Amino acid sequence: MEMRKRALQLFAVTCLLGIMGSLMPVHGQNSQQAEPCCRERININEGWRFMRYDAEPDQLMYDERPAVTNRADNIIADTRPAESLLAASSDKGLKKWILPTANDFIKDPSKHYLRPGGNPGADFLFVQNSFDDRVWEQINLPHDWAIKGPFYEGANAVAGGGMGRLPSQGVAWYRRKLDIPAADAGKLIYLDIDGAMSYAMVWLNGTLVGGWPYGYNSFRLDLTPYLRVGGDNQLAIRLDNPPNSSRWYPGGGLYRNVWLTKVNPVHIAQWGSFVRSGNVSAASAVVDITVDIENKSAIDEDIEVVTDVYALTGSAGTTREKVTAFPASVSTILAGTKLNVKRSVAIQHPLLWGPPPLQKPHLYAAVTRLYKKGKPIDEYETRFGIRSLVFDPVKGVMVNGQAIRIQGVNQHHDLGSLGAAFNARAAERQLEILREAGCNAIRLAHNPPAPELLDLTDRMGFLVIDEIFDCWEKGKTPLDFHLIFHDWYEADTRAFIRRDKNHPSVMAWSFGNEAGEQFTGEEGAAIAKKLHDIVWEEDSTRPSTASMNYAKADMPFPKVMDMLCLNYQGEGIRDAPAYAYLKGIRTPPLYAAFHQQFPRKLVLSSETASTLSTRGTYLFPVVDGNSAPVSDSSGGDPRQEYVSAYELYTAPFGASPDKVFASQDRHPFVAGEFVWSGWDYLGEPTPYYSARSSYSGIIDLAGFKKDRFYLYQSRWRPGFPMAHILPHWTWPHRIGQITPVHVFSSADEAELFLNHQSLGRKKKGPYEYRFRWDSVLYKPGELTVVTYKNGKIWATDTVRTADSAAKLRLIADRDSIRTDGSDLSFITIKVVDAKGTLVPGADNMITVDVSGGGEIASTDNGDPGDLTRFTSQQRKAFNGLALVVVKAKPGYRGPITITVNAAGLLPGHTVIKAIMLPAAQ
Ligand code: GAL
Repeated sequence: MEMRKRALQLFAVTCLLGIMGSLMPVHGQNSQQAEPCCRERININEGWRFMRYDAEPDQLMYDERPAVTNRADNIIADTRPAESLLAASSDKGLKKWILPTANDFIKDPSKHYLRPGGNPGADFLFVQNSFDDRVWEQINLPHDWAIKGPFYEGANAVAGGGMGRLPSQGVAWYRRKLDIPAADAGKLIYLDIDGAMSYAMVWLNGTLVGGWPYGYNSFRLDLTPYLRVGGDNQLAIRLDNPPNSSRWYPGGGLYRNVWLTKVNPVHIAQWGSFVRSGNVSAASAVVDITVDIENKSAIDEDIEVVTDVYALTGSAGTTREKVTAFPASVSTILAGTKLNVKRSVAIQHPLLWGPPPLQKPHLYAAVTRLYKKGKPIDEYETRFGIRSLVFDPVKGVMVNGQAIRIQGVNQHHDLGSLGAAFNARAAERQLEILREAGCNAIRLAHNPPAPELLDLTDRMGFLVIDEIFDCWEKGKTPLDFHLIFHDWYEADTRAFIRRDKNHPSVMAWSFGNEAGEQFTGEEGAAIAKKLHDIVWEEDSTRPSTASMNYAKADMPFPKVMDMLCLNYQGEGIRDAPAYAYLKGIRTPPLYAAFHQQFPRKLVLSSETASTLSTRGTYLFPVVDGNSAPVSDSSGGDPRQEYVSAYELYTAPFGASPDKVFASQDRHPFVAGEFVWSGWDYLGEPTPYYSARSSYSGIIDLAGFKKDRFYLYQSRWRPGFPMAHILPHWTWPHRIGQITPVHVFSSADEAELFLNHQSLGRKKKGPYEYRFRWDSVLYKPGELTVVTYKNGKIWATDTVRTADSAAKLRLIADRDSIRTDGSDLSFITIKVVDAKGTLVPGADNMITVDVSGGGEIASTDNGDPGDLTRFTSQQRKAFNGLALVVVKAKPGYRGPITITVNAAGLLPGHTVIKAIMLPAAQ
């Protein structure tokens, strides 16, 4: 008992230190302060050597690949089923040695892979301990080798616009020494990689250990058999990113955290806990836990399992208070087996997890300890939330009994100019800006995220659709996942769910996006069913789904789905007069058809809009209706690669936000929408594939709000007084010309004034979501809107004609950052006139200097067509704005001064501080 008390005290200290240390993992405890008797989780992000090949390098490939010649972007290319490609594959590759890594995630033991004899790669220099890698680049993780560029330009680039024009393809090696002290004798030592892009193969001390091809999943390798305990060990990781393997920017490298986990032979398995809550009410909830315990020793062991439950309180869950414990148990775990121990406890007056602003995202931690003969041998933490989720086909998503309208967005994994390398602050900033628009839900398009992203959505209270695949057997690009679907779909799906299942923010699983199998009737539905059933076996507490842009209500495909996620079909595809001239699928609004066919299934839109725009760019004339496709003569400027920001122009299959809102309001049973997309992302620059990044974001790549941000805010935060005028009002060449003025506001009435003269007061009609004055004749001066709600003044906005550019102004999102080398300050640079008004068209070349212990992490301006390297110290303003992202050199404490200069303008400067701050939890 005394022992346990001590363990608890130590644990409390661990937690406190954990909070103050760097990023704390959700599962498993913080390593550095762990009790030596128990598990250690050691971050090994530092001290790597890196090398990338330009040409075809070695024969160590995973498998033969079909030959692919460069193709035009955005074509759904190879649609052969994977089997036919596999049949063509040879024995050359190393996949036979890699596939056994999947065994823990393949249910049927008879399908487990046996590792063949031999040790492929052993004679290759880079895997050998004696190889001198000192000339290789020194790097720390997370690392994305491609983001520094340079961008490929022109047609037929190796990586075209679709993949972001960045050099993500090719083979690269990462090497690192591991010092394993003699005290680790008898421990099991695992390598935990949160994500490696892609086809990872790992050697330790010259022996191939295993690997994992899918770049977005997390995986574990057991290093123990290959380790030299009490000595130096050499890790060598080969990654191989095929070209033409993605519809967006995949990044390249060890782009997420990498850990060593050290445990005793009897320990809690990888992702070995599952906490579920039932009978949830304000008064009480029943919480169940399943703990998977693994005995890798040669003797049977009697193990006591104790799990305490703590409420995480304080502003960011930074303090913890023990609330209860699961009943303890003792079990015999036979040598070489796994056992799962199940326990339940009732929690009175639980602090429920739910999305703000209506609810609060309270979190708990279950801390499980294993004891052998009274001695602690493992300790494992599971964060969880208590909440009930009901998917009601009429009322929508009910969280804790309250209907929460899904005001969601789709997000890709990249962090703009920082690339794919995960950074917690950059991800948090993305969510913060989305939250300001009123967003409450994220669909992770179309792959598992960094685990820490789900820590953020838990803490901030976003609802999440966690998604794994963009394709199954039928590929969308020649070398994408379809090549390995057959071998890996089960392992990837199970691993994905086991990792993420305790996150309260995850409300549903998606096992596919717009799969080509929608087109193949029963055959495609059978594959969907196979994936659906795997998900259900792993987690029967949440619905699972695959998003449909083609399958109709009377086809076999949707029958498989627990909830119906429509992409664009709900509001109709090419279903407005302006789209009449386009070829392609034409679909009337289908919400009602799906609802009628499946009255017991919830319907929502997992993708809407694909509205396109370039921030701050307005093209004339403006289309009359409320939704139109971009073309080179309407809404688009192919020469400059701009799309007009009147927020009316869309991809050929898309619809403006106004059209989506109307369609959803006409079908109130629809649970809500996920807009394509929240932020602009790298790659897929529809409609201009000579560019590098998308046009579909509500927020541009640099994090600047497009006008559309305010249109969503007006709908998603109806009680928030706001009004937003577009366009800007600096048009020296438009004097006397028609310059339509649109206003986004949560008000119901608005009056516009040009130089204090009223241009009329308007009311929003039914199914109207913006105020439009389409025949305003431009004259310089001041444009003001006064809005009203229920007859009372609600909010106002004013735009003014700017004079010529006079100076630069800097605004830091945070003026204090942590000294850990990963925290960031995002600094907006504005080009303003002498009075401080933003100069809307300003494109001055700006030079950024950072002095003291700070450095530039990246620069950007949100222009999808700007192919200046993201690492550049010089950056053109785009429509008056630019961004510099600054970090502190690791360990530096003190002021960091940022100075910006541009020819003919007064410089700007600001000072931020690098200080010791507790890490975000
Ligand atoms: C959808 C697709 C997304 C993205 C989007 C572009 O059809 O699911 O991944 O490509 O179109 O507008």
